[in-house]
Parts: sequence; C-alpha cells; structure tokens
Amino acid sequence: MIENKFMNSNQVSIIIPTYNESKNIISILKSIGSNLPKNLHTEAIVVDDNSPDGTGKLVEDYLKNIKKMADYTIEIIHRKAKDGLGSAILKGIQHAKGDTIVVMDCDFSHPPHIIPKLIESIKKYQYDIVVASRYIKGGKIQGWSLKRKTMSKFATLIAKKGLGIDTKDPMSGFFAFKRSIIKGLNIDAIGYKFLLEILVKTRDVTIKEIPYTFQDRKFGSSKLSIRTIFDYYRSVWKLYRYGKPLEKQEKRSSVKFLYKAGRFYTVGASGFIVNYMISLLLTGGISDMWYLHANVVGIIASITTNFILNKTWTFGDRDFRVKKTISQYGKFAMFSSLGALVQLGMVYFLVDSNNISYPLALILAVMTAAFGNFILNKKFTFKEKLLE
Ligand code: GDD
Ligand code: MN
Repeated sequence: MIENKFMNSNQVSIIIPTYNESKNIISILKSIGSNLPKNLHTEAIVVDDNSPDGTGKLVEDYLKNIKKMADYTIEIIHRKAKDGLGSAILKGIQHAKGDTIVVMDCDFSHPPHIIPKLIESIKKYQYDIVVASRYIKGGKIQGWSLKRKTMSKFATLIAKKGLGIDTKDPMSGFFAFKRSIIKGLNIDAIGYKFLLEILVKTRDVTIKEIPYTFQDRKFGSSKLSIRTIFDYYRSVWKLYRYGKPLEKQEKRSSVKFLYKAGRFYTVGASGFIVNYMISLLLTGGISDMWYLHANVVGIIASITTNFILNKTWTFGDRDFRVKKTISQYGKFAMFSSLGALVQLGMVYFLVDSNNISYPLALILAVMTAAFGNFILNKKFTFKEKLLE
C-alpha cells in the first residue's frame, strides 16, 4: 500500500534508481536540472543500493557542495543491498512528495529532454499514465545488439498477448503517472517491470505514449541478468493471475462448466493413451511382465497423469501443499476406481440385457462414467461449486 501524508499537489518527483552508476549519476542529475519545465517544483530522488563503486557517496558529496535551488531539489535514499530495480522504484515512490511521478534510468538511455513532455501530458492534458515509447512512430533504439532487441520485442509480445496490454512499449523504464492512480494498489515490484504492473493493475486510466530514442549507455554496464529474465516470467505469471485477462474470460457459468468438462474428457483420453502405451511396453517392449500386472501399472500411471493434468489444467488449482495434494490424489483415485466399476457394470447391463453392440455400449459407458467422475471431482476433490 502506498500512502504519503506529505503529498504536495504541485510537485513532480523523479525517481532514479542507481546501482554502480558513478560515471553517470552526477551528469544525469545536472542534465535533468537543466531540462525541467519552469514554474514547477521538482525533486529528484536517487535510490541507491549501496553501490560498490561509491555512487551513493558521490551523490552525498555533490549535495554538500552545490547550493540549494528553490525549484529543483535532490535527495538520496540508501538501501543496504541490491534489491532490484522494481523495488527501488517503489521505495522512491514511497518517499516522493509529488502528485506526479516520473521514473527513469540514470545511464542516459532515457534522454532528459523528454521529461517536460511527460510532465505536460499529465499536468496539462491530464493523462493518468504517460509512457516514453520506443515502439511507436518516431521512437527508436540505438546501440543495442540484435539479441537484446529480440529479447525486448519478445518480452513485449508476451506482455501484450498474454496480459492483453494495448500499450506499445509496456516494458519501458521511462514513464510518468499521477500518483493518485496507484493509491491502495498492492504492488509486488518483482524484477524490472514496474510499468507493466501498473498497466495491469490500474483500471479505467488514460494512457499516452510519447516517442523517444533509446540510446544504449556509454558508461558502466547493464544490470539485466538471467535473474531479471526469470523475474520477468514470474511477474508476468503473477500478473496474469491477477485479474484483467480473467475478466475477459468466459463469465457464463454453463459455458465455463462445459469448458472444464471438455478438458476433463481430453485428459481422460490422454490417460487412456498413457495406460495403453505403458501396458504394451511392459508386456513386450522393455520387459515381459505378466499382462495383468502390466495393466495395473498402466492404470496407476494413467490415474497419476490424469490427476496432475486435471489439477493444474482442468481446475487450475495451484495449491501444491503436500498434505492437501495427497488427499486430493486419494479422492481422485477413489473416484477413478468407482468410475471403472460403473463402466464395467454398464457395459454388462447394456450388452447382456439390452442387446446393444459392445463398441457402442463401451462408448456410452465410458462417457457416463467420465461424466460422473467429472462431477464428483469438481465438487469433492477440487471443491468447486457445480455451477459458479
Ligand atoms: N537501486 C537499484 N537497484 N538500481 C538498479 C538495480 C537495482 O537492483 N538494477 C538496476 N538499477 C538501475 C541502474 O543503475 C539504471 O539506472 C537503471 O536501474 C536501469 O538499469 P540498466 O541495467 O541500465 O537496465 P537496461 O538498460 O538493461 O534496461 C532498461 O531498459 C529496458 C528497456 O527494455 C531499463 O529501463 C528497463 O526497465 C527497461 O525495461
Ligand atoms: Mn541501461
């Protein structure tokens, strides 16, 4: 939750996270100062993670030596350890006094002359979020390798398709927003993708993109790591579960019911294949087990794969606590055995007393038993209402 009682209504706060940026930080602070719009109070907040290259100390010394300006102040927050870009941004926002927040890197990839345009779009045109964008007309990237460009494009594609985002550059690290729009939001700030999280979690906001040219840094090196990439997928997954795409999903309970039943049947079919393959392999392919034993192994294997698929896919259950999962597995196996008995009984009844051909009887029996199984597992194993 983000609250701040000192909020000042005509101030802009620029958040600048730093890690090992001793070659950039002072010049970016100066450059920001000389690019600010007039008649506005701006505070720059540097959030440094105890950079080994002394970035934090450098800023402290610099602040001691410059004379205070009325409309541009600089503050520094020191954190003990490198805790990630997203959480540094969040920390900065929690300290910020402005009603408008700007976030940018300190390595000159984000040109300070764009800042007035961002602020204008918010203060004058009243947009809620403004994104400095590489991926709209007029925007560019300079100095990135093909590999890095492709990674960025791919990550952007995932966000757009996976999370239903319309913004062209949701991965931008250069953006501004009205502080009021994130009030009350629970922000995870995993990894690099702060903007993406805001885009997913805010509703009914107006968004504008402004083109700019992203220049790769001249000094120091990128902090993007394998870890950052994993963090990205983790945060997309979390955001995916958060809500917006779910909202777009089917709401009619009858249709949702049919969807799930369809998945349950599909899983059942896959289980049949598993069972068949394993039984065949054990009796001929890799061992010469007695066919009844082989069939038992096949049945157990298929019940297990069916269980895993139904838990994660059909019912979307992500709770893997051991005790709970074992108890679900027990119920699932019990219902499966029950289903097998029902199936057997039905085949016998249909063929023997109603003179229905064996193939047809088998199909009818399998469908019925599977349907019963679906209902029982939905209600008792995964504790869902029958129609929700
Ligand atoms: N405090 C703190 N802690 N700052 C950090 C950390 C951290 O753990 N990691 C990175 N930073 C700071 C850097 O010092 C820099 O000012 C800024 O965050 C961006 O880091 P870079 O390492 O320069 O990132 P990049 O250039 O690879 O990626 C940039 O462009 C991407 C566009 O695809 C960032 O702006 C990304 O957010 C953006 O998505
Ligand atoms: Mn950079």
